[in-house]
Amino acid sequence: MRIIRHPAEMTAWAKEQAKSGQRIGLVPTMGFFHEGHLSLMRRAGQLADQVAVSLFVNPTQFGPQEDLAAYPRNFERDCAMAEAAGVAVLFAPEAVGMYPAGFNTTVMVGTELTGQLCGASRPGHFAGVATVVCKLFSIVRPDLAIFGEKDWQQLAVIRRMTADLNLGVEIVAHPIVREADGLAMSSRNTYLAPQQREAALSLSRAIVLARKMAAEGERSAERLTAALRDFIHSFPETTVDYISFVHQDTLQEVAEIDEETVLALAVKIGGKVRLIDNGKVLV
Ligand code: PAF
Repeated sequence: MRIIRHPAEMTAWAKEQAKSGQRIGLVPTMGFFHEGHLSLMRRAGQLADQVAVSLFVNPTQFGPQEDLAAYPRNFERDCAMAEAAGVAVLFAPEAVGMYPAGFNTTVMVGTELTGQLCGASRPGHFAGVATVVCKLFSIVRPDLAIFGEKDWQQLAVIRRMTADLNLGVEIVAHPIVREADGLAMSSRNTYLAPQQREAALSLSRAIVLARKMAAEGERSAERLTAALRDFIHSFPETTVDYISFVHQDTLQEVAEIDEETVLALAVKIGGKVRLIDNGKVLV
């Protein structure tokens, strides 16, 4: 596996692949790989000839009070895992390579998709995500890029940006990968103290509860939300950031749930660890 640090070298590699008719699949990541990342890499390997993984903890998508400095990192371990997953290139730029002196451009998707859910709790987050993903697409020039459905709003934002800017990259969504007990895999799970692990299950179990209530006939988003809030708060150290029933594509809140509704959740555990999860309710 080749490790590339410089955007120009990355683009040179991409041009070589294009010349020889090789399709590139990109998996954008912030590293600290787990099985969720590896399944994205393996999927990219099935869909493209060459897999490129970007590993960049993008500072512009973190708010001033967020966990940029503490974000888990283990470059050696990530390299070994990516190589074993068949990755051809690991693109791991320095922050100064991505945002050199004088950098002054931001890609912003409108508030219809970015004003709610994580966009409301994390102002500026999706501008940071859209800008870095747009740059990664320009540098790596992939034919397709794979994103996990755990960040449902991020996926919608990236789809919109890619279409609006005619970026010509096929966006592939990959299902959430879960631990055996239902916890959605996330690099941030490593922040959980052992006694908080049970509380972290409140998210996936809330989705299960919503599905049960829906199967019994409940359709009111308001009543479901109230029941889920009580349920999540019955776990120690939990604070609901949001519980929202939204249309799967527009991300607009719905009053009555149907087959196109996604339940999106964000919960803080112990005041610090913020976890997200989502799922269809009528399945
Ligand atoms: O989902 C992530 O890990 C990040 O938001 C992404 C897409 C790599 C952009 O930094």
